Parts: sequence; C-alpha cells; structure tokens
Amino acid sequence: MDNYIASVILWFVLIVEAQVLPITARWSSQRSQFYDFKVQITRVTKLCNTKDIVTVNGLYPGPVLYAKEDDRVVVKVTNESPYNITIHWHGVRQKLSCWYDGPSYITQCPIQPGQTFTYKFTMEKQKGTLLWHAHSSWLRGTVYGAIVAYPKTRVPYSFKGSYEEHIIILGEYWLKDLVQLEHDALSSGGSPPPADAFTINGHPGPNYNCSINDTYKLDVLPGKTYLLRIINAALNMEQFFAIAKHNLTIVEADGAYTKPLTVSQVMLGPGQTINALVTTDQQIGRYSMSVGPYMSARNVSFQNISSIAYLQYSGSTPYNYPLFAPLPSFNDTLVIRTVMDGLRSLGPVYPPMEIDTNLFITIGLNVQKCTSKTPLQNCKGINGGVMAASMNNVSFVMPNISLLEAYYKKINGHFTEDFPEYPLKVYDFVNQAPNDIPTDTQSITGTRTKVIEYGSRVQIILQDTGTVTTENHPIHLHGHSFYVVGYGAGNYDPQAASFNLVDPPYLNTIGVPTGGWAAIRFVADNPGVWFMHCHMEVHMSWGLSVVLIVKNGQGKQEVLPHPPYDQPRC
Ligand code: C2O
Repeated sequence: MDNYIASVILWFVLIVEAQVLPITARWSSQRSQFYDFKVQITRVTKLCNTKDIVTVNGLYPGPVLYAKEDDRVVVKVTNESPYNITIHWHGVRQKLSCWYDGPSYITQCPIQPGQTFTYKFTMEKQKGTLLWHAHSSWLRGTVYGAIVAYPKTRVPYSFKGSYEEHIIILGEYWLKDLVQLEHDALSSGGSPPPADAFTINGHPGPNYNCSINDTYKLDVLPGKTYLLRIINAALNMEQFFAIAKHNLTIVEADGAYTKPLTVSQVMLGPGQTINALVTTDQQIGRYSMSVGPYMSARNVSFQNISSIAYLQYSGSTPYNYPLFAPLPSFNDTLVIRTVMDGLRSLGPVYPPMEIDTNLFITIGLNVQKCTSKTPLQNCKGINGGVMAASMNNVSFVMPNISLLEAYYKKINGHFTEDFPEYPLKVYDFVNQAPNDIPTDTQSITGTRTKVIEYGSRVQIILQDTGTVTTENHPIHLHGHSFYVVGYGAGNYDPQAASFNLVDPPYLNTIGVPTGGWAAIRFVADNPGVWFMHCHMEVHMSWGLSVVLIVKNGQGKQEVLPHPPYDQPRC
C-alpha cells in the first residue's frame, strides 16, 4: 500500500515536471545532465601559505559542467559552508527560467548555510564555452568553473576538428580570506588591495613565492591542433593571455562562433570566454603561456607579476628552458583594438535593424562624501571620500529581498522603475564631471530598474566616463546575449558613429573601451528581472549595476513560469 502511494506520488511529480518542459523538448529525446554541487570549506596551500577557501566539491577551480546544446541541466547545490551563496550560470540565457539565473537578491535569495537549492535550466540553442560562478559577496574569487556545451550529436564544430580540447581558466588568488577582503575594502571606503597572484587553472606558476611546483603544464604532441577554451574568472582584473611563439586563432567568443581570427595576444575581461585553436608547429621544447594585467585606470596599484603555465611538447625535458611569452604593457589598448576590430560573427546573424527602446547609459566611478565619524578607518577613498560607481550616475543599491520575487508578487517598496533612459545631465562625459561643481564627483543612489516591453528591440549605448578615471569596464548582461554593433573612442556621436549590422560579434560581456563607448543591440525576448553590471566585482559592489525588467508577452512561450517551490527564503 505504501508502495502504491509512493508510486502515485512519483507519477504525479513526473507529470507535473513534464508540464513545465516546453512541448518541443518533451517529445524530443532531451537529455538531462545532473550535477551535485557541495559548497564547502577546503584547505589549500599556495604561495607558502595554508588557508581555508570556499570551493565546490573541494575542487579549485570547481568541476566542469558538461552538456550538449538543448540539454536540460539540473544542479543540486548544497551549502555546507558558513556563508550565504548562490551560483550563476554566466552566459546561459535562461530562457523562461529567470528563477534559476542566480545573482543573489536579484533573482533569488541566497542559499543559507545548511540549505539546498536545485537549479534547472536548458542550454536552449546554446553551445560553446561559458562559466559558472558564485554570485554572492566576493566568493566567486574561488567558487568558479567552466561550462562546456557541445554541439548536438553529429553536428560538427564550425572549425576543423582539433586533436584535443583543454580548459584554461584564469583567476586571481588572495592570501587574505575573501569575505574579509570584501568587508575590509567596503568598510574602508577605498579600493581593495591587488591579488597576491594570478592563476591559470588554479596554479600561480613559478613567478611568485613557493610556487615553482604549483604550475599548470599542458602536454602536447608536435604537429597537432589544440582547442583552448580560455575563460577569465578573475575577480577584478582584466588580463592579457599569450603563448610563446604560438598564435591563437579565435573561433568562438562568449559561446558564439566567430570568423577565424589569428592573433598573437588576447585580452579577456572577467566573465569573458574565448575558444582559440593553437597549432603545435614549433620546435620540440617548452613554451610559456602567460597571463598579465590589463589596467586602463589611472593611479591604481595592481599585481604586475605574470602567472605562467607551460605548453610542453612531448620529447622536451625540464632542462629545456621555457621560452618566454611577451605580454603587452599593462596599458596597451592596441591589442584590444586589434581583436575587437577583427571579431566577427560567423553569420548569418540578424541584429535588430529598427529600435524600440533606446538607452544611453554612462558608466564609471564616483567618490562620495564620507560622513563617517571615524574617517581614518572609513574614508580611504580618493580625497578622503568613499569610492562608488554608477550607471547614469545612479549607484545601484542591492535590495534585501529577491527583486524578481518582489516584481513577480508585486511586493511594494523594494525598487523603483525610474532608471533614467539618458544621463540626467549631458556634458563632456569623458573629460568632465556630472555635477555643476567639477570637483563634485558624487552619484545618487537607488534600486532603480528599467522596465522593457516583451519583444522590444533594444539598443544600449554604453559610455565610459572620466569622473574619477576612464577605464575599460567589462559590462555583462544576464538573460540575453547582444550584438556589439559599434564602438569607438571619446564621446558617442550618433552622426559620426559607424555601425556593423552585417556580422557583429554576439557576446554576453563587452569591454567598453577606455574613455570610449560601445553600442549593443538585442531583442528583449526573455521575460524576467535581469542584472546588467560591470564584471569587476569591486565595481559591482560600488554600484556599477542596473536591473532590466523584461515584461511577459502574450503567447505561452512568452510568460515566465511560477517560482520554484524550493526557492530559498531571505
Ligand atoms: Cu558572471 Cu552577474 O555575472
């Protein structure tokens, strides 16, 4: 009898589950990938120092999430750490599954210590290299891993098959505890200290203290072509990557195919991914793969020692002195320009030609007046102020409930819908300050959102500002990829700007040029509450974010389903 009841319940669950899957998926042979993510405290020794870090399943970097295009992915996340946490599937568009997107206080409350939440989403029409990472406090500094989505069975890649594929995931490592680092930086009012090391697949390489044996090595055969899935999972740094004597042929960026582009160096902002082919056509030997900083802001300190890994040909020995990979200087913009100019969708693509929603958003840093009674501790920003950052000079204030839930259940008082479509004041964005007194660098604050009609064809001009310092900001949009139809130096000028509407790259994170602008276009066809922010973690903490709310449409496939029954509570 008990068995009978159990099987009735099981069938009921299966039927309910079937209802929430799209019809097309139900009748096709959709595969599911199940993952168990245990967020835990793990002891690691690095740079002569042993400490506890937060990991998934004890791995640093975390486990690789493999799937195929259109697969359903189910990840049960159990939080065995003492911190609140969420996981975000960076670049996964979460069609009709905004509830599982992951940014804490935007689409969900964090998973509290001892709690569990199961993420369920489909890699709908998506393949390529992406990443997952924690999206709660600064924990993504160690809680990150790769997502590899293969094409469907029997569908080849756009490029000639490679002999092997390898993941190269870049990170930053601090000796200080990350939660402490975040707390200290934010309460000081100033900038966080630079990382103690850059890492490649979790390894700092020989250039730092006690790290000679903590070096990633990639063994290769001569005369083959390898596919490198390169991911920047660093917290705050944009990074150059190069391999001594070997070119990189970019074939995919942010999980979308590109026309092949051969370069000697690439730059990735945090959150960006590149697939590149490397041919082992050099003499038998060992070659450095190097990672170094791209720092476009003025007057900031940063880690300037590169992380090194080895590409070692079979037949080489440790006595083969590894050839050095020349990296650009830390403020070189030419390398970035070269890649941007050459990066084209493989096509054919159809960026929106007409625009319904036109946004002009300035991005940059601010310094607020410090009102602390203990200024020595809390006013360590520029000129004794508190560092902040903003979009259209509004610094985003994180709510303390899930915005998606507040919006969905019409709970008042947690956000407003008045994010300005245009800067409140027009001025020389690159060279002047937003307020009437040029030394006044303050922003206004608020949890302001922009509501967009379903199906709206959106254009956003992202304009860097020089209020504090111009800087390349990697701006990431959740829930949609976008076409980068234009970019340029200086202030955006619609008369002078030229757009590529033929084969623009299709990305989820765009490095807006230092002191320049970028234009992105997409169709808002995914109802939900979507975060858009600078992917340098500290800038996001300072408020360089906004939330775009895409309304439901009319049709069945245009309405966000109900929230999951097991969603975490705040
Ligand atoms: Cu990869 Cu909101 O982030």
